[in-house]
Amino acid sequence: MRVDGQPTRTIRAAPGRDAVEIIDQRWLPHRFVIERLADVASVQQAIRDMWVRGAPLIGATAAHGIALQAIADASDEALAGSAAFLEAARPTAVNLAWAVRRMLKHLLAVAVPLRAAAAWDEAQAIADADVLVNAAIGRHGLALIREIAARKPGPVRVLTHCNAGWLATVDWGTATAPIYQAHAAGIPVHVWVDETRPRNQGASLTAWELGHEGVPHTVIADNAGGHLMQHGEVDLVVVGCDRVTSQGDVCNKIGTYLKALAARDNGVPFYVAMPTSTLDLALGDGVAEVHIEERTGREVTHITGRAASGELIEVQLTPDGSPAANPAFDVTPARLVTALITEHGVMPATAGALRRLMGSS
Ligand code: MRU
Repeated sequence: MRVDGQPTRTIRAAPGRDAVEIIDQRWLPHRFVIERLADVASVQQAIRDMWVRGAPLIGATAAHGIALQAIADASDEALAGSAAFLEAARPTAVNLAWAVRRMLKHLLAVAVPLRAAAAWDEAQAIADADVLVNAAIGRHGLALIREIAARKPGPVRVLTHCNAGWLATVDWGTATAPIYQAHAAGIPVHVWVDETRPRNQGASLTAWELGHEGVPHTVIADNAGGHLMQHGEVDLVVVGCDRVTSQGDVCNKIGTYLKALAARDNGVPFYVAMPTSTLDLALGDGVAEVHIEERTGREVTHITGRAASGELIEVQLTPDGSPAANPAFDVTPARLVTALITEHGVMPATAGALRRLMGSS
């Protein structure tokens, strides 16, 4: 998608294939910073400390981390060590393990001297495939938005949570791909952007990228969604996902579950945009089985923003000494999901549909 009119991806290999360049998302929306990562340790830090984030982008970044390892030492032991190191950076999004294991499987079948070149090619293939997958999700989601637009006047009002936009992927985003395609097709859309406490990926990232594409949107406090749905102000909810289990339970950013409950109570369709790389068939009951990342309480007690002086500052919100808990994700049971929007089409969040999907893809 575009930044100041320039088509931009979130990640690219440096021209000499000796480093990877990423958008450092810690500074958005106030500063646009490209960071150069030249070794596995920097890639691990960028994932762990959320310079890059979002399930598909974490996977693509880790794949480039393996490519950097292959330059330094492409032995079986070194690659396996880096794979384990990268996988441990963040526990919840399954795309991280998916991408690292795909890289490892591919490289172990290649002669050691050829591994560095093969690794850059494979990392590039993972990034390019992500763009195609998200574009396909966009086309399938566009059909849903078109149907709604055909039966009501005014813009189609979409509520989204967190950032499942192009900043969370290599390009297009997952939840935002149908929105961008509808906007490009001339269908009027308006996006309710959940701020998404505690890290505010909606307010900082989704709002920023929608703005650069000229998509009408309004940032709302996380607590406003239920009220808007009760008053008929939301036509559909579309969110992304970090791990979807074999029975269709959806793990996504904390607060997603509450939006699904409100949507069900108000008859608002609740869609999950899901690339098949986010499916984890090893898990069944998402609530019981998904490992939910616990992040520092400081993300709850403190907040960073731009002061009137233009300086970025961090301030404390809570009384000294009040402890804070910070589970970063929650699980929405499949029964609350209207449908999954995948690169292969729109399908129910059921074990049978997911089995058929994986049998045919
Ligand atoms: O903690 P984050 O910012 O990595 O969490 C991201 C989300 O939960 C996204 O909604 C999800 O990864 C889908 S990204 C297309």
